[in-house]
Amino acid sequence: MQTVHQLLLFASILLVTIFLQSCQPAPQSQTTTSLHSPSKDLHLQCFLTAEGTPAYTLSFKDKTVIDTSTLGFDFKDAPSLGKGMKVLNSESSTVFESWEMPWGEQRMVENHFNELTVHLQETAAPNRLVNLHFKVYNDGLGFRYEFPEQNNWAEMVVMDEHTQFNLTGDHTCWWIPGDWDIYEHLYNTTKFSAIDALSKRDHPNLAQTTIPENAVNTPVTMKTADGLHLSFHEANLTNYAGMTLKIDKDKLMMVSELVGSKRLGHKAKVNLPFNTPWRTVQITETAAELIDSKLIVNLNEPNKLGDVSWFKPMKYVGIWWEMHLGKSTWQLEGGKHGATTANAKRFIDFAANNNIGGVLVEGWNTGWEHWIGFEDREGVFDFVTPYADYDLKEVVRYGKEKGVEIIMHHETSAAPRTYEQQLDTAYALMQSLDIHAVKTGYVGKIIPKDEYHHGQWMVNHYRKVLETGAKYQVAINAHEPIKDTGIRRTMPNAISREGLRGQEFNAWASDGGNPPEHLTIVPFTRMLSGPIDFTPGAFNIKLDPYKAENQVNTTLAQQLALYVVLYSPVQMACDLPEHYQNGKHPAFQFIRDVAVDWETSKTLNGEVGEYVTIVRQERGSDNWFLGSVTDENTRDLDVALDFLEEGKKYTATMYLDGDKAHWDDNPTDYKIEKQTVDSKTVLKLHLAAGGGAAVSLIME
Ligand code: NOJ
Ligand code: CA
Repeated sequence: MQTVHQLLLFASILLVTIFLQSCQPAPQSQTTTSLHSPSKDLHLQCFLTAEGTPAYTLSFKDKTVIDTSTLGFDFKDAPSLGKGMKVLNSESSTVFESWEMPWGEQRMVENHFNELTVHLQETAAPNRLVNLHFKVYNDGLGFRYEFPEQNNWAEMVVMDEHTQFNLTGDHTCWWIPGDWDIYEHLYNTTKFSAIDALSKRDHPNLAQTTIPENAVNTPVTMKTADGLHLSFHEANLTNYAGMTLKIDKDKLMMVSELVGSKRLGHKAKVNLPFNTPWRTVQITETAAELIDSKLIVNLNEPNKLGDVSWFKPMKYVGIWWEMHLGKSTWQLEGGKHGATTANAKRFIDFAANNNIGGVLVEGWNTGWEHWIGFEDREGVFDFVTPYADYDLKEVVRYGKEKGVEIIMHHETSAAPRTYEQQLDTAYALMQSLDIHAVKTGYVGKIIPKDEYHHGQWMVNHYRKVLETGAKYQVAINAHEPIKDTGIRRTMPNAISREGLRGQEFNAWASDGGNPPEHLTIVPFTRMLSGPIDFTPGAFNIKLDPYKAENQVNTTLAQQLALYVVLYSPVQMACDLPEHYQNGKHPAFQFIRDVAVDWETSKTLNGEVGEYVTIVRQERGSDNWFLGSVTDENTRDLDVALDFLEEGKKYTATMYLDGDKAHWDDNPTDYKIEKQTVDSKTVLKLHLAAGGGAAVSLIME
């Protein structure tokens, strides 16, 4: 194996050298360095402009996708970096390796790219050094700035990063605003030139939202007039501020705009040597291929935690939806407390009877009476003290007896300093109880004032939580998180996160909840960043009798399809046991059966904002599961089952929209059909408006 790698490496160094010699001249430069993807379809050129500013272009099959885009920085108490640079030298190589996900949407990941590092230096004093490191994959580009250790430059205070993405057309874009505090916005579909993030500033259901300018958050996905799909994001966001992309409508240009800190007056402060996160552009011909791209995780460092088998992917239920419906409360006062010992045991029994591994209990600890409305939330929540009617130890003991794990809940109310003070004690308590997963939450304005959820200070807080979790064998599912940038490769206790408009909005959003198109955009945007704790599985679609004004805007069959379409190693069945008829609802069988850890995954078809079909093979088994969802339009899809093992028979149990199903008029109309299929079968799926299909394929 080693020799094969070495041979490949040698061959590709040779190839890269040939590319370097044969590259076409770039627009304004004498010193161009260039690099192709292993497939040769993508072509990167890096050069200096006439002013000596580093720049790059990117083309796909000889068509420019990113035109001349310059790179640079503004610092505090130091001159800007970007003009008057010279190339010292450059080196390139090829990597072709594969690595194993301890849990994931697939077991083996192929990591194949050509890389180029260009060493630059300022020609005038202070003669600073910076390297540009590019990796070109078959499905996109990642590049970052590397600031090596150097004389007279030990600390860098970044006031702005100026990474440009110069587009070559007025593409169709799927975007959410570049909010510094929250990603829980609906996706907008507009031409690039019509992006108007500022019009989204005042949302009644967001506890905290800060949108300083016309910028978008990442991943932002686009389709060109030629049908090419692009998605812009970042990978390995470590000790730095999150990146939004400022929109220049006239120039059809995006420029990095880092999330700031009004408190500290800068964007990021770091010591040298320092590498920025990777700036990424995923490029695929079909929308489906975007979902299957592994570029973001590949750009992260290998697993540094080693064996994390103490965390087991699982389905879970919990004391949660009932609070969002108003059936019970988080706080003890008022006589409707949800997190009682008896209620937790009811959920444990339900889980144990239905192949569900975990029970989440929210509202178990003291502090909820001060949750919302209090400006000073420091010291309010206590992460080790249960309310009087909740016997934590007894609940854990009962769960163990039934083979069900308790999932801990820590709502920090965006007071991270309070949380950090208690982290060790809280996680030590969890470890002593054999609890290995926690859902965290950061609702509200960050304390201290003038910090934002997505700034460097909070990025470091979220990382500290992961690191402390690793110490105590605790896996983190963060709500109101920093966006995923593939860090789960390095720290596989980063199991899942929210970071989008989840199911909860259907229970109380004053704008009518998530429209039917929402979940046909999310797989091509938010899901490119990593696992999603969306919490599917609502069966009581109209939310009767709890919420007269609200409903879930999908059919019941689509709720089932989401277990496959949306990837997460923790997947909730959000509804109340009684709405699943305590497990006797015929459609609940799919939730009971569906896997949560996968050998492989494949996106069979899809168009952003219209529909998508994904199949996944259960890890360690021959069984496959299929999920297909559509927007507000009905759809007929032919799905070839050619991914099944040839010559084998499978029982397909299909959970389909009923003949009269419609997300609004008749959402609970469904039917279950069975048939024997093989790899030659083509399934004809009919999806109702706002509908879906979920299929289990069990080898006979
Ligand atoms: C917001 C989270 O997204 C939700 O799931 C949770 O129930 C509440 N915060 C309370 O922590
Ligand atoms: Ca939330």
